[in-house]
Amino acid sequence: MNLLDGKLVSAKIKEDIKVEAAAFTAASGRKPHLVAILVGNDGGSETYVASKMRNCELVGFDSTNIRYDVDITEEQLIAKIKEINVDPTIDGLIVQLPLPKHIDPDKITEAIDYRKDVDGFHPINLGRMQRNLPCFIPATPYGILLMLAHYGIDTAGKKAVVVGRSNIVGSPMSILLARNSNPGNCTVTLTHSRTQNLAEEVLQADIIVAAIGKKNFVTADMVKPGAIVIDVGINREDSTETKSGFKLYGDVDFDNVAEKASWITPVPGGVGLMTIVGLLKNTLEAAKGTIY
Ligand code: GUN
Repeated sequence: MNLLDGKLVSAKIKEDIKVEAAAFTAASGRKPHLVAILVGNDGGSETYVASKMRNCELVGFDSTNIRYDVDITEEQLIAKIKEINVDPTIDGLIVQLPLPKHIDPDKITEAIDYRKDVDGFHPINLGRMQRNLPCFIPATPYGILLMLAHYGIDTAGKKAVVVGRSNIVGSPMSILLARNSNPGNCTVTLTHSRTQNLAEEVLQADIIVAAIGKKNFVTADMVKPGAIVIDVGINREDSTETKSGFKLYGDVDFDNVAEKASWITPVPGGVGLMTIVGLLKNTLEAAKGTIY
């Protein structure tokens, strides 16, 4: 088993981003600037946004976290997004998901100017991604591609099985792996809650992407010897063992699956760190104007 080490790869790519950000700042007189909107106080979302902001500072970006109480209206939120859309000092905007039930995430996603949509969730970016055109790629799938590329893993012709069809990870990941690009050129199966014989589908995979949000969902009996296993799960459980008061578990039963896999990502220390890198790269591209 070889480890796909998110700590190592993310640190290396962040060094490159830092150099590019400094060059951008020297040339333009301002730093790349990411704004993150956080509604309410979901524990996971708070942690993720804090980490995004911290990493922006680390690579020399400006970052602003705008927080709203859980009772903000959809109209108020859209009004703020429209303000940011036309603010030339802001390059990228993300609205952290999930949102409270009274706010429609699709309306919010479409309110964001696609040229500032560094989450890559806007239908224009998704459509352009499917067509293999320049676009913002959703941060987690983007991070996974960067990880595969870093280790020089040849994905062409391989059978990839994605577990979970979320808008954020599973669906875009399935498109990206199927594209005529590198990494890509896979034969992709996208599995979900209504898939029959899911374990048998996963067992066929040369590449498994587990993004279903269930602790230890992928077990060793579902894994073909030599498979490449990408674990997107970040399942939080309260714990007295850690300083933070919680412990993270992936969607993959790491200890047993690692014995069969050729490559595997750990949790923590795998895909989560690469997601940040995907977001930082998108924000830098947004500032430089190289995509739009
Ligand atoms: N919630 C979980 N992952 C993400 C993400 O990548 N972006 C946003 N905006 N919300 C999320």
